[in-house]
Amino acid sequence: MENARYTFPEGFLWGGAEAANQCEGAWNEGGKGMTVQDCLPYRNVGVADYTKQFAYSTADLEAALKAGPEDNYPKRHGTDFYHHYKEDIALMAEMGYKVFRTSICWSRIFTDPRDEKPNEEGIAFYEDVFKECKAHGIEPLVTLSHYDPPLALVTDFNGWASREVIDLFIKYARVCFERFGKYVKYWLTFNEVDAMLRHSVTSGALIPDRFPGQNFDQIVYQAMHHQMVASALAVKLGHELCPGAMIGCMMTRLCFYAYTCKPEDNLATQQRMRGIYRYVDIQVFGEYPRYLLKEIERKGLHIKMQPEDARILKEGTVDFVSFSYYMTSCMAAQTDGLEMSPGNTVNGVKNPYLTSSEWGWQTDPIGLRISLVELYDRFRKPLFIVENGLGARDTLTEDGKVHDPYRIEYLKEHVKAMSDAINIDGVDLIGYTWWGCIDLISESTRQMSKRYGFVYVDLDDEGRGTYKRYRKDSFYYYKKLIAANGNVDAVDE
Ligand code: BG6
Repeated sequence: MENARYTFPEGFLWGGAEAANQCEGAWNEGGKGMTVQDCLPYRNVGVADYTKQFAYSTADLEAALKAGPEDNYPKRHGTDFYHHYKEDIALMAEMGYKVFRTSICWSRIFTDPRDEKPNEEGIAFYEDVFKECKAHGIEPLVTLSHYDPPLALVTDFNGWASREVIDLFIKYARVCFERFGKYVKYWLTFNEVDAMLRHSVTSGALIPDRFPGQNFDQIVYQAMHHQMVASALAVKLGHELCPGAMIGCMMTRLCFYAYTCKPEDNLATQQRMRGIYRYVDIQVFGEYPRYLLKEIERKGLHIKMQPEDARILKEGTVDFVSFSYYMTSCMAAQTDGLEMSPGNTVNGVKNPYLTSSEWGWQTDPIGLRISLVELYDRFRKPLFIVENGLGARDTLTEDGKVHDPYRIEYLKEHVKAMSDAINIDGVDLIGYTWWGCIDLISESTRQMSKRYGFVYVDLDDEGRGTYKRYRKDSFYYYKKLIAANGNVDAVDE
């Protein structure tokens, strides 16, 4: 098509994303040690309050350690990618993926993070996964830590608040770079690095009640400092061990609009938006931003930093910025009487101009363009959208089909916004991986019924099902879209 309205650069990385903890399963196979995720029960807490979804106590952990096969711990089985990876990667190849984002489970590589030697069975599994990708011409994009810290960090350390965890993490990262570097060019250190402030157990291996009488903010900000140092050390090590590697950071791209043009609402919005950059600024610029230092001071916190930390942060800056983007909401200085709306681990004021998913997340493709422009203007680094998608309830028909026009619509509108950001706004966007490309277990609700995939997996919230895979209508749409290198109009013709 000549003069196509929606175009993408040659070599644009189209693909999909998953995370070990949400798809792999096989929680007690292959020499894998226990992770925090193995201990999170299914909880049908509704959609309105993410704080309930992530609330976790020592009593919950004790119950998990006693749980049997009759208890519902969805991450233990995931969607059984561990045994289905060849089939899943073949489905991705059929769609024409150029890239597949997944994560490595630290506890598969070191059964116990203190072990001296890695678990060869775990290494062999990931080697097979990456070889399978390469055999299909798919570039793996690998996250070292996606919300599944080894359980020992909770029970035998103070989670990431312990400085020793940095060394354990670097030992693990070294094995990953040394053993998988020949297959993997694109790496991310920590998924949604800002998330520990919202859900401490999955990001920081921190359960609040294990720190009685202590200021939990102090614990979290200290743990965040350790993750920053670990991330910077990993970036430097990755560059040394894998020449040519591209190592990025990963942030939750939350986007708030001012609810009105009142200066107070705009100030509140600006403050909130600044908050989302707190830690990514360190990973990109190699130092604490002054507003974060002020915040730490205001809160009366004292972050212990070693003299070498400043140099480490400077030497370990990232090559690109990746992020998740799902929804937007609004911010007001006074929210009394305003209707609120849940989003990706945040609550915001409902935007009357947007529609919402069943889980309340407000769909906003223009917000993606706004985000791309803002991120590029701030960082001047290549951008990579490593998560975007729509969680919806799908119906499998008797003849094995899933008709999901809502997902196709969401995809199409977001791809248009990306194209505009590239072609009109001059943003350097290098790739796009749709989240949960094969259905997986939801992170916040641990439901199976909140589905993102182009491929339906026969499994319900109680863990019943055959794990059989079915292509949805969106599967065929994405395949055509990739073949047309994102030219939405050509696909619709
Ligand atoms: C991102 C996480 O924040 O959102 C993913 O990195 C998660 O792990 C995704 O699955 C969607 O959230 P949810 O709660 O619908 O699974």
